[in-house]
Amino acid sequence: MSKKILAIDDDESVIWVIRKALEPLGCEIEAKMSIRSGLKVVDKYKLILLDLMLPDGNGIDALKEIKTFNPDALVIIVTAHGRMESAIDAMREGAYDYLEKPFDIEELEIVVEKAFKDISMREELLTLRQGKEEAMPFQKAGQIIGKSRSILKVFKEIGRVAPKDVTVLVSGESGTGKELVARAIHNNSRRKFGQFVAINSASIPKELLEAELFGWEKGAFTGAVEKTAGKIQAADGGTLFLDEISELDIDLQAKMLRFLQEREYSPLGSNKVIKSDVRIIGATNKDLQECIKGGLFREDLYYRFNVIEIKLPPLRERREDIISLARHFLKECIRAFELSQKDFSKDAEKALAGYNWPGNVRELENTIKKASILSRGSLLERRDLFANDYNACSIKEFLESKLNGFLGKMTKIENSNLYETVISEAEKALFNIVLKETKGNQVKAAKILGINRNTLCKKIKEYKIVV
Ligand SMILES: Nc1ncnc2c1ncn2[C@@H]1O[C@H](COP(=O)(O)OP(=O)(O)OP(=O)(O)O)[C@@H](O)[C@H]1O
Ligand SMILES: [Mg+2]
Repeated sequence: MSKKILAIDDDESVIWVIRKALEPLGCEIEAKMSIRSGLKVVDKYKLILLDLMLPDGNGIDALKEIKTFNPDALVIIVTAHGRMESAIDAMREGAYDYLEKPFDIEELEIVVEKAFKDISMREELLTLRQGKEEAMPFQKAGQIIGKSRSILKVFKEIGRVAPKDVTVLVSGESGTGKELVARAIHNNSRRKFGQFVAINSASIPKELLEAELFGWEKGAFTGAVEKTAGKIQAADGGTLFLDEISELDIDLQAKMLRFLQEREYSPLGSNKVIKSDVRIIGATNKDLQECIKGGLFREDLYYRFNVIEIKLPPLRERREDIISLARHFLKECIRAFELSQKDFSKDAEKALAGYNWPGNVRELENTIKKASILSRGSLLERRDLFANDYNACSIKEFLESKLNGFLGKMTKIENSNLYETVISEAEKALFNIVLKETKGNQVKAAKILGINRNTLCKKIKEYKIVV
């Protein structure tokens, strides 16, 4: 590292001493006699020696300005003997150290050496951190995006429950981010160095799920050729995430209840009792109270899971988050798929923000992924995001906006028989389009329209539609 130093001091004898002391250490000194001339070059230096009394002003003000132009620079204050208070003020304003004039050459050398050591350590740390971030395929993997009131509430709840070892139930519609929240709890707990093991109760047949969870002894069932550890053991010292707990078979629910109470279990085909140190986080997209009423879920197990519940609201109830999530996913896609820079058009943003997202964040993520790969230009348009998707702009919204525009111009027309005109014109247009689409096939057209063929025939005659 080149050891370049800027010295701002109007006393030439001080500059001479600084050079004498520091040049033998390999330092390059640039001297400036005023604050104004010093500030012009300040951004080129990592270390600055600054006098407190200068012809064009006070060193404390100069320090503040240096910190605005070059916040990372280390500034060593040089002060005349007996101006202790100003030195303390300078430290408070973020000076790195201070020296008293006339200074001891050895002291100056020590302070400057130490400053350069700190600078190089800070730079090393910075490159290390950057390297680590680059090594991650999805830089902010696991980051929960959102600024809405309801997602901030979720952040707070994660912070509150993570350090405690309590069982947590995360509930919310499919795709709202339940697994992401469970991972955040794990990553912010003392178990973060242990494993996070996820198991989905809905995707594994019920006979296998029990074995997957508890493990088995050799010969416990047909095909159990080897003793195998279960997910509970794999998660020992960490967190076990049980997804879709409403899908747990009722017999397995009894076994889970025992496990949650005792924190002990026996693998299939074994009498051995194994103690387990695992934190359980359950997730559900169903209303468990309803499942209890229907006799599908044990009430006592519900209370074991539901020590603390974190409810994730559907995306349509936190619309403020849609655009920031969309931007986040677009950025991730551009990086992961090495695409050229892209952005959303204003109209596309409007469509994203207005859509209902029944599949929540997962649907939004998939929509952005697909559109970012398929679109050609640098702007993602509404049609790129919602090709063939009539929900993006519902018929109701479409008609309302068109009618609003039309009716605005109609106020001057009297006796317009508005109802008849609008309804018959809409019908005529609809039949025309569908008949064109089916190339005049009335049976097909009636089917698409959801009316019977006789009605369609009557309308064709009434409106004199040429088929
Ligand atoms: N707030 C968020 N910020 C960033 N990504 C999110 C957010 N919420 C969800 N995701 C992403 O959306 C996808 C779905 O999230 P996740 O799998 O956690 O949902 P889920 O509620 O468990 O869904 P399911 O009930 O279908 O299992 C994941 O890729 C996840 O990373
Ligand atoms: Mg999930």
